[in-house]
Amino acid sequence: MPRTTKGLILAGGSGTRLHPMTAAFSKQLQPIYDKPMIYYPLSTLMMAGIRDVLIISTPQDTPVFERLLGDGSRYGIEISYAVQNAPRGIAEAFVIGESFIGSDQVSLILGDNVFYGKMDFYREAIAANEGATIFGYPVQDPERYGVVEVDATGAVRSIEEKPTKPRSNLAIPGLYVYDADVCTIAKGLAPSARGEIEITGVHQAYLNAGRLSLRQLGRGIAWLDTGTPESMLEASTFIHAIEKRQGLKIGCLEEVALTQGFLSRDAYAASIAQLPPSAYRTYCERLID
Ligand code: G1P
Repeated sequence: MPRTTKGLILAGGSGTRLHPMTAAFSKQLQPIYDKPMIYYPLSTLMMAGIRDVLIISTPQDTPVFERLLGDGSRYGIEISYAVQNAPRGIAEAFVIGESFIGSDQVSLILGDNVFYGKMDFYREAIAANEGATIFGYPVQDPERYGVVEVDATGAVRSIEEKPTKPRSNLAIPGLYVYDADVCTIAKGLAPSARGEIEITGVHQAYLNAGRLSLRQLGRGIAWLDTGTPESMLEASTFIHAIEKRQGLKIGCLEEVALTQGFLSRDAYAASIAQLPPSAYRTYCERLID
């Protein structure tokens, strides 16, 4: 019997590195080409069949996300919201989300992580997960990320958060899968020197228990960075180039809902009838013509 997997999106953080873009509202609401950034991670969860999602953000921005995405019914999913009062670390998502997660498996995606490509690796990881699963993605600047080192058999040897001397070029994207033990593990973590409960601490606990799996991603998957103004522009340019070439949108939530069967054809038609006149609506209409 397939397991229920819930989705968590963490869209908090102070975003000070992108000031003044983030002075009034959060990074994950900024556009990546033609959609708010959070559309992309939300579509990633939906493409894995996840229909129950909790979005965690700051006290100021949570109502804005709610205004943007509503209760999810227009995408055939359920979205609920929770507040992270201060940027106390990624792992706090499992403390805040404990009652939402319950005894189910959960996948966390960071609200600024944009993926493009065939997402089979993610669906397979969700189906096969025991304990926790992280991914490894080769990058030229691993020191900016969580970094995973593997042994000759491909098993995880070490994980480090933003090491000055990375032991490999494999960055850990902000997309993870966990069993329900993650809440207990997160609650047991002590804050780091910067006062946060670190996601790396969660992974270290699973690693110590021999319950951490790694799947390496290679060519064919784009994991785009959105951490600097320049990388945001590059991500926008990338999405624009592919959308223009193919005439297909990336991260169109209504389309994903239709192709996943979350919305019937009629429910889809009713959903897009609510959209204001726009290129986005025209695209959605074209899909049922
Ligand atoms: C966070 C995580 C890091 C991960 C990265 C992916 O870093 O701490 O391990 O590699 O997200 O986006 P941040 O971008 O919040 O500094």
